[in-house]
Amino acid sequence: MSETRPTPRKILVTSALPYANGSLHLGHVLEYIQTDIWARFQRARGHQCLYMCADDAHGTAIMLRAEQLGLTPEQHISNMQAEHERDFSGFLIDVDNYHSTHSEENRELSAMIYRRLSENGHIASRTITQAFDPEKQLFLADRYIKGTCPRCGTPDQYGDNCEACGATYSPTELIDPVSAISGATPVEKESEHFFFTLPAFSDFLKQWTRAGHLQEEMANKLAEWLEEGLQEWDISRDAPYFGFEIPDAPGKYFYVWLDAPIGYMASLKNYCDQRGLDWRDFWKKDSDAEVYHFIGKDIVNFHALFWPAMLHSADFRTPTKVCVHGFLTVNGKKMSKSRGTFINARNYLDHLDPEYLRYYFAAKLTAGVDDLDLNLDDFIAKVNSDLVGKVVNIASRTAKFVNKSGGVLANALADEALWQQFVEAAPRIAEYYESREYARAMRDIMALADAANAWIADKAPWSLAKEEGKEAEVLAICSQGVNMFRALITWLAPVLPNTAAKAAQFLNCELDWAAATTPLADHQINKFKPLMQRVEKSQVDAVMEAAKESLAKLQAEAKPASGPLAEEPIAPQIQFDDFAKVDLRIALIANAEHVEGAGKLLKLTLDLGGETRQVFAGIKSAYNPEDLIGKHTVMVANLAPRKMRFGVSEGMVLAAGPGGKDLWILEPHEGAKPGMRVM
Ligand code: 2FM
Ligand code: ZN
Repeated sequence: MSETRPTPRKILVTSALPYANGSLHLGHVLEYIQTDIWARFQRARGHQCLYMCADDAHGTAIMLRAEQLGLTPEQHISNMQAEHERDFSGFLIDVDNYHSTHSEENRELSAMIYRRLSENGHIASRTITQAFDPEKQLFLADRYIKGTCPRCGTPDQYGDNCEACGATYSPTELIDPVSAISGATPVEKESEHFFFTLPAFSDFLKQWTRAGHLQEEMANKLAEWLEEGLQEWDISRDAPYFGFEIPDAPGKYFYVWLDAPIGYMASLKNYCDQRGLDWRDFWKKDSDAEVYHFIGKDIVNFHALFWPAMLHSADFRTPTKVCVHGFLTVNGKKMSKSRGTFINARNYLDHLDPEYLRYYFAAKLTAGVDDLDLNLDDFIAKVNSDLVGKVVNIASRTAKFVNKSGGVLANALADEALWQQFVEAAPRIAEYYESREYARAMRDIMALADAANAWIADKAPWSLAKEEGKEAEVLAICSQGVNMFRALITWLAPVLPNTAAKAAQFLNCELDWAAATTPLADHQINKFKPLMQRVEKSQVDAVMEAAKESLAKLQAEAKPASGPLAEEPIAPQIQFDDFAKVDLRIALIANAEHVEGAGKLLKLTLDLGGETRQVFAGIKSAYNPEDLIGKHTVMVANLAPRKMRFGVSEGMVLAAGPGGKDLWILEPHEGAKPGMRVM
């Protein structure tokens, strides 16, 4: 009765590497859940399936964000990676490795692939003219240029399109363009760039995109682009840029999208190197492994054109499949920051069980690229009705009778015909998982749950249990109930790993896909404990409330600072380490006197708690020396001594004001003692 075990396959799966620039939202999570269900399904079938992910850590946006936060890019991406990994585990995404594109493995592999492309004549170089921010000393991508729309005159529009009238244009057409980073007027500047000669792969790609690596609708889309003709791909960026410097090209960096997909390999290499395995087994030309990339439809060009062409040129195998999904909508609308339908992974996890969303997405996911809607009312209804009302219900209404009669399942089935429906469904459900038709798999599973529940209701073991001498019948019915539950939860395990683990505990057996339709007979089970709680509307409301708060926080952060400091900064931003170099101390003014022949200076003797310094301070216009004696102030104690006409000045006291009579030296609150460090 059991299914035969398939021949083990060697599979590598990936999800798109999230930018190390912001929090994960439910749109990201949709993809990770889709990938994770597939990976868990493959492992449950006995295949070797490695799921690799990483943060996509390079690029201008990440560099600027780090600067805004007062962090080094390395600190910033490390914080983001920790946050992302927490969210992955929160949603039970069982990646085998989570790495970073800013890693030694990726540096090495990117350089190696680039070298191969270059040796094969697939890298061209030429000088191009680009917008340049003269203040920031930075080339500006279109999205960093703002100005007035040349078509409708709306101000403050981005470099390539107008949000008001929908016009698309080039940034040079913008009226009064400014750099969105510094506000300076961009100038045109020339620079040498490197290009990957994509058109050389046109024939290869025409064939590759039709060879079963893509969904039909995606292959059609790509055919249109291929028909229009491919352009060379600019793969270099000028310093300053956070990324990898291109070998033998100082000041030139790989464009983030060049090394991002190589990050898939780098994550695997990092994983393999720790285990004495060879990452090349998955990527070499004649590899017997399969490689699956799960991605959203917005990045198909990178994964189905640039990436296979790069791999082909660099003498690696290409992906088995690029599995494209649609976008997530919330209550029928695009996830949008302005509409408040932008839900962070953390907003959800703080209030709801990850398995609810895993199931809801599974129940709606197909192998197609249509958008998927998270309708919040439907979410509550579906989780409660399917998981709690149908699946868990089978166990909770039958297990207790088995427990009562000693906990050993009957040795034969009560209804062979009903069981046969389960047996026949097994390969079909597996096929649906394999082909990413999860919604169909869930429908089949729920239809079986309905059949099981109807049968149990009809047999009404709870009524029979009250009759004399019906013990064996009750046990037979309920044993079949438990066995049906076991089959269903085995098939749901890729979606509901936690509930499946709890079920395995109560069933007192491993959930083995190949054995799911071999009923347990004469088998001792453990006491049944509740497996899942209902979703409450108040929890969903709390998620939406949290989402609004996160959004407000983000928007407040994003608002450009205004006011005199922001508009006329005296000095560029410094890091804490820079500030800590200044040794500021409390000083007691032990003596103050006029200096012969000096119009502006007073000579101060400053006591730093047992050590004195002589400082000439330009405060004569505002202070009489006798008024200063005995007062405390703040001095820079590690300023290099300066030789002046009247003697050596060994530091500096701090004062504010425009000058003349309007000059005030700093005085600490009472209690500060000479020599104390000021921080
Ligand atoms: O679109 C994105 O979010 C990219 N960070 C995806 C990169 S996928 C891969 F190529 F690394
Ligand atoms: Zn416009």
